[in-house]
Amino acid sequence: MTFASINFNHINMILVTGATGHLGNATIEFLLERGIEANQISALVRSTEKAQDLKAKGINLVIGNYDNYTSLVTAFKNIDKLFFVSSSDISHRLQQHGNVVKAAKEANVNYVVYTSFQRKDETEKSPLYGFVQVHILTDKWLKESGLTYTILKNNVYMDFIPFFIGNDVLETGTIYLPAGNGKISFALRFEMAEAAASILASSGHENKVYDFTNTEAYSYADVAKYITEATGKEINYVSPTAEEYTKALANTGISQLNISVALGQAQGEFDTTSYDLGNLLGRKPTILQDYLKTIYR
Ligand SMILES: NC(=O)c1ccc[n+]([C@@H]2O[C@H](COP(=O)([O-])OP(=O)(O)OC[C@H]3O[C@@H](n4cnc5c(N)ncnc54)[C@H](OP(=O)(O)O)[C@@H]3O)[C@@H](O)[C@H]2O)c1
Repeated sequence: MTFASINFNHINMILVTGATGHLGNATIEFLLERGIEANQISALVRSTEKAQDLKAKGINLVIGNYDNYTSLVTAFKNIDKLFFVSSSDISHRLQQHGNVVKAAKEANVNYVVYTSFQRKDETEKSPLYGFVQVHILTDKWLKESGLTYTILKNNVYMDFIPFFIGNDVLETGTIYLPAGNGKISFALRFEMAEAAASILASSGHENKVYDFTNTEAYSYADVAKYITEATGKEINYVSPTAEEYTKALANTGISQLNISVALGQAQGEFDTTSYDLGNLLGRKPTILQDYLKTIYR
């Protein structure tokens, strides 16, 4: 079925999970922008309190929790398309994702679009394994489930650069991360949401895997250069070893995620460029230089 041929008399319900989060919420906005009626969109939420903005727009709120299998089966009944946003609960999401895939199958959902993650090395040797194992398995479960799916291999959000390099980078003048010369093809989260909405509102994406990355990949030396150009303030990039980095930041509450992403970057895990995102957007995704100019002036 194409977007143009959707029969609005018959409700082809789209359910968006993670609807109170950044990606899910933005995807709903883009679905509305594309002309999908609010009464054809449901939002899976853990609490309606956090979803008053969605309710005000006429979106149907459905209570559900990835931890509660029964709540998911109930929420997924009569759902045509499920936008499955990966859980943000890192320590429990393996079990949670298993629940979502099984519940989608039990509830006879027609089509699942899943937000997976970029990686190359799928072995336990990967510094990212602790974070990507859930995506490797969820992709596999979806493919084996018999459900019609589209898997979005999201690269690292460009929006997260200030978090990785530190909000005080203009004061310190240094980007300090153990990412070596590794590159990331960062893409903006809202552009991933826009492209996901395009998939949900059209057809032809069944059983495909898309790389949601940019058309160019960048090292932190590039990030430092572009911030220098944007601000006129000299920013340097220093890449310590993982041990030096952990030791230097031991008292700052640095997360394992930061270290793993940087080490993954160093070995090229995120260095995948693609036109998939741009093709779905119908334009070139925002490039790093342009994004950094909006943040650093
Ligand atoms: N590619 C990247 O760089 C990158 C970076 C960070 C995260 N991610 C992944 O991408 C996902 C979407 O990103 P985002 O920025 O939109 O994250 P976000 O703003 O943190 O949103 C996460 C959403 O997941 C929901 N959620 C968490 N635990 C749940 C549970 N047990 N049952 C049902 N819903 C649950 C949250 O609901 P509540 O509002 O109720 O908490 C929220 O709506 C994240 O969840 C994470 O898996 C990717």
